[in-house]
Amino acid sequence: MNRILITGGAGFIGSNFVHYMLQRFPEAQLVNLDALTYAGNLENLADIASDPRHRFVHGDIRDAALVNRLFDEFDFDTVVHFAAESHVDRSITEPELFLTTNVVGTQTLLEAAKRHWKIAPDDKYSREYRPGVRYLQVSTDEVYGALGREGKFTETTPISPNSPYSASKAGADLVVRAYHETFGLPVSITRCSNNYGPYQFPEKLIPLMIHNCQTDQPLPVYGDGMQIRDWLYVEDHCSAIATVLEKGRPGEVYNIGGNNEKANIEIVKLIIHSLGKSEDLIKYVKDRPGHDRRYAIDNGKITSELGWKPAYTFEDGMAKTIAWYMEHTEWMEHITSGAYQSYYQKMYG
Ligand code: NAD
Ligand code: DAU
Repeated sequence: MNRILITGGAGFIGSNFVHYMLQRFPEAQLVNLDALTYAGNLENLADIASDPRHRFVHGDIRDAALVNRLFDEFDFDTVVHFAAESHVDRSITEPELFLTTNVVGTQTLLEAAKRHWKIAPDDKYSREYRPGVRYLQVSTDEVYGALGREGKFTETTPISPNSPYSASKAGADLVVRAYHETFGLPVSITRCSNNYGPYQFPEKLIPLMIHNCQTDQPLPVYGDGMQIRDWLYVEDHCSAIATVLEKGRPGEVYNIGGNNEKANIEIVKLIIHSLGKSEDLIKYVKDRPGHDRRYAIDNGKITSELGWKPAYTFEDGMAKTIAWYMEHTEWMEHITSGAYQSYYQKMYG
């Protein structure tokens, strides 16, 4: 794991992962391929702009010529694929973009990895790859669909996505699996629960509620606010991915989560109270179509097989997160001006 292609490294989790890797693996050379969509932000990488171990490339994962050129130039031994359209609400209004970015983009990367890593690339029966190479697909617990009151998602839970976003991520996972089964490509798939932490775009629940509280705007809670998500501090997601890269068995899926189930309304109230605001800001709004009621991750496989465990409790992670947004009001101001305003009007108008 020396020359790593990270896709989507200007987004929320990707930029946290770049920071994490530079700290944890000082020898690694990182190339960060990101199209800088509305969700990509170079300010997330400003503090490492002059670090010679990190090279930013502005480009699209669907551009096969570019991806192949990068493989030629940097001779990657590892790919960690974060780049995606990631917001469920946007997938309801723009499903096609999700399918092209998330499914076709994934296939483009897999094809380049196969071509560059296979010992005999023109022999369709050969399954031999250069030693030590690995393609890691950053997937999501949403591919499993929704849970009722009981139970948790395990790696053998059938895939049953409900939104265009989760269907596109499930489609991508199946293509990754096919590249492993048919071509023998050494892959890993990780399926994590909801992340929170620094650099998250304020279309997602936690930064949106923090920002609206800070600016005394209504807090839009979908439906009855009793939907449950299983929250993980983003640095714990990064450490889990690094663990899978180091120790995960090729072809395996690993669920990632920290046993932190919370109803949305609990989170909203926690933010309100932490910022010293009033619950009068809460505004119940029409529910998201096809809204998944509950997610919960069984993390038994990654904890027992690979020895990973989260480092942050929910209380510590939320305290760090709220403090970060309080200290980075300029970062928030920059991304909530311009296009964000028209998105917000259209979405919550
Ligand atoms: P994000 O929306 O914050 O960032 C996505 C990044 O991908 C952006 O920088 C964007 O510019 C880039 N991108 C989009 N389309 C691209 C393209 N065609 N070519 C190159 N770059 C492109 O997303 P995130 O929340 O950081 O999620 C990262 C990954 O983790 C996604 O694959 C997502 O499905 C997965 N995931 C997210 C969560 C979560 O809670 N946020 C949980 C589990 C899994
Ligand atoms: O579970 C992992 C997934 O978590 C990732 O794969 C996705 O990329 C990520 O966006 C996230 O999906 P969710 O739909 O769970 O996250 P979101 O922050 O959009 O919403 C969290 C919950 O809060 C969900 O039940 C919807 C609700 N919500 C969200 C927003 C933005 C509200 O009630 N009001 C809001 O304004």
